[in-house]
Amino acid sequence: MYLETAVEAAKLGGAILTDNLQSEMRRQVSKKQQFDFVTKVDLLSEKAIINYIRERHPEHDILAEESGALQSGSDFQWIIDPLDGTKNYIHGFPFFSVSVALRQKNQLLVGAVLDPVRDELFYAEKGKGAFLNGQPLQVSTSNNLSECLIATGFPFRAKHLAASYFRAFSAMFHQVSDLRRAGSAALDLAYVACGRIDAFWEIGLNLWDIAAGVLLIEEAGGTVTDIYEQDRHLLSGHILASNSRIHSKIANFLEAPFRNVSL
Ligand code: IPD
Ligand code: CA
Ligand code: CA
Repeated sequence: MYLETAVEAAKLGGAILTDNLQSEMRRQVSKKQQFDFVTKVDLLSEKAIINYIRERHPEHDILAEESGALQSGSDFQWIIDPLDGTKNYIHGFPFFSVSVALRQKNQLLVGAVLDPVRDELFYAEKGKGAFLNGQPLQVSTSNNLSECLIATGFPFRAKHLAASYFRAFSAMFHQVSDLRRAGSAALDLAYVACGRIDAFWEIGLNLWDIAAGVLLIEEAGGTVTDIYEQDRHLLSGHILASNSRIHSKIANFLEAPFRNVSL
């Protein structure tokens, strides 16, 4: 039942994103902070998702990117990113998603990430596997870095971290097949879960960017930690996700650049 709520909520949000992709509303933004924007469509999508969840589970708490935390002390919390990849969306670059997850205390129970452009719905339920449009997902089996495609996200809100970030990027770049920065962390994680990429890392993400994607990867046989290989990614948002086999190899590139950096 919870999975169905997550999936239907993501679809409601996704329909609003695609309906407005060709309209002027796509570009109607307000600035959240330097280099960071929210669109009118974000707000519409979030409202539709929250209303739907509220109707079905009025007793549950909600954490949504644009509305913040709506709390009544429940152990259950829905975690919503109504548009992940806002900058892509504003520019009409068709790589963005909707992410909806539910946790009970610190245990993720269900997660859905929808790419409404390609009609790809990634979803997972704790202990029951991860799926893409009904097909079971598995992370890649690559072990050899020179064959690995690695995704990342730039720290565009924290440009003071650029020096450390690009040190790690450069070290990795020399050893892996190639790197990608596609612009939707939730979809990047879904792509690790289905084996299209072998690992993903980014610093400074929020819970709504990663909650659903983390469960997808865990259920698809991958590993998720923070960039120091600790189990603190949901708290810190500094995330390293992989097919498990190359996890420590990727973590090694991050170790020196971020050793003495306060994140
Ligand atoms: C952003 C995207 C992007 C990542 C940023 C996120 P938003 O989410 O996931 O890929 O690099 O850190 O904040 O703002 O588009 O929902
Ligand atoms: Ca996001
Ligand atoms: Ca967002």
